[in-house]
Amino acid sequence: MNILIIGSGGREHALAWALQKSARRAFKLFCAPGNAGIAQLSECVDINATDVSSLAQFAEERKIDLTIVGSEAPLAAGVVDEFERRGLSIAGASRAAARLESSKAFAKDFMARHRVPTARYRIAESVSGAQRILESGEFGGEDASIVIKADGLAAGKGVIVARSRSEASSAVNVLMGGHLVEAAAAKRIVIEEGLEGHEASLLLFSDGRDYALMPAARDHKRVGENDTGPNTGGMGAITDFSVLDDETLRRVVREAVEPTLEGAQAEGFPFRGILFIGLMLTADGPRVLEYNVRFGDPEAQAILVRLQTDLIDVFEAVAHGGLGTVPVRWSDESSACVVLASRGYPSRPEIGARIEGLERAEQHEGVKIFHAGTSRSDTGDWLTSGGRVLGVTAAAQSLESALLRCYSAVNDIHWDGMHFRRDIGKFSGQ
Ligand code: AMP
Ligand code: GLY
Repeated sequence: MNILIIGSGGREHALAWALQKSARRAFKLFCAPGNAGIAQLSECVDINATDVSSLAQFAEERKIDLTIVGSEAPLAAGVVDEFERRGLSIAGASRAAARLESSKAFAKDFMARHRVPTARYRIAESVSGAQRILESGEFGGEDASIVIKADGLAAGKGVIVARSRSEASSAVNVLMGGHLVEAAAAKRIVIEEGLEGHEASLLLFSDGRDYALMPAARDHKRVGENDTGPNTGGMGAITDFSVLDDETLRRVVREAVEPTLEGAQAEGFPFRGILFIGLMLTADGPRVLEYNVRFGDPEAQAILVRLQTDLIDVFEAVAHGGLGTVPVRWSDESSACVVLASRGYPSRPEIGARIEGLERAEQHEGVKIFHAGTSRSDTGDWLTSGGRVLGVTAAAQSLESALLRCYSAVNDIHWDGMHFRRDIGKFSGQ
């Protein structure tokens, strides 16, 4: 059997590791384009993740039996539709389903159509239209908390949480002026009420009929401790029973998971792939902040270290149906992933620093280190090659023990400019 993973981050390294670990069959793993960590587990192929036709051609030539898509860009570019057109087996969301992530305006209107609880919102197509909405006062006066979101994909940089109406007004100019994200991503924006509460992410596998929930996760998006500084792709993530209590989970399933999957079916794009529901747990109940149509990074790392089922079985069922007969099981533990980043991340990460202590860190009991941005020098040294470099991950009986495992391994790793958050897993005062 030949399997191809599309992507190149820590998430894809965790996918490669989970596939290698749990497979009961002999198979060969490829990753396009992969990274230096993934190259230890699979054959990396130099094809860009959004080069849909080259990926499909490769899959045909190398007789790939199953393709797994890690990141959002290839899904939004229609990789699943193209593979299926050619009769190739692939696990991921179709281009139509990927609009739940690739257009925030589409996602909000979808939520409204299917009565999925979410923040009150308006869509604006121009700066003047947006300013008129703000001035009308419908999202509150000067002291209102208002969130401005670019409609399109923006790698986590397209959302500004404004603490006042004038801040919201500048946020509109910044986003629609193309200063923060590509202009095309912010031709439309979503204006929404600011919500308060703890955040949680609930992910699930779906084959278009049945679904299987993953353990709820929480990530830490801000670069600095106590949730300070700019947003990043994610500086760490945990899974723990405390993220979503049973009663809230049942409510999220009833009010968000099922209406979303039924809504997708009713609108002609039965959801096949991984659905990520970003939630704010407000005093009035859970509200959906966003959908993603793929694993989170670094949520995937924290989630996959708890998977006890053969991941190939799961992805085959996602691609072909039959998820209802695959019991997807998770260890009864907590887990954590601490991201180690380069100096300058998220704005201008420095690369090329020599990473020390990686081999020693990997010896810590129960610790897995997933590579996001690493490369190797001619002499075999590990070098940094991106903003997020490593995800130090562990599962254990309690969240405290998982964090202890991660941070003791982190202590062994060093490079010039390395930084990370010491407060992963702690509630911050948001
Ligand atoms: P999103 O990409 O829509 O999930 O937004 C990114 C982050 O912005 C979320 O994880 C929240 O921390 C924050 N955020 C988004 N929407 C809201 C909202 N309506 N109220 C408060 N914070 C929000
Ligand atoms: N960690 C958030 C994301 O992958 O979207």
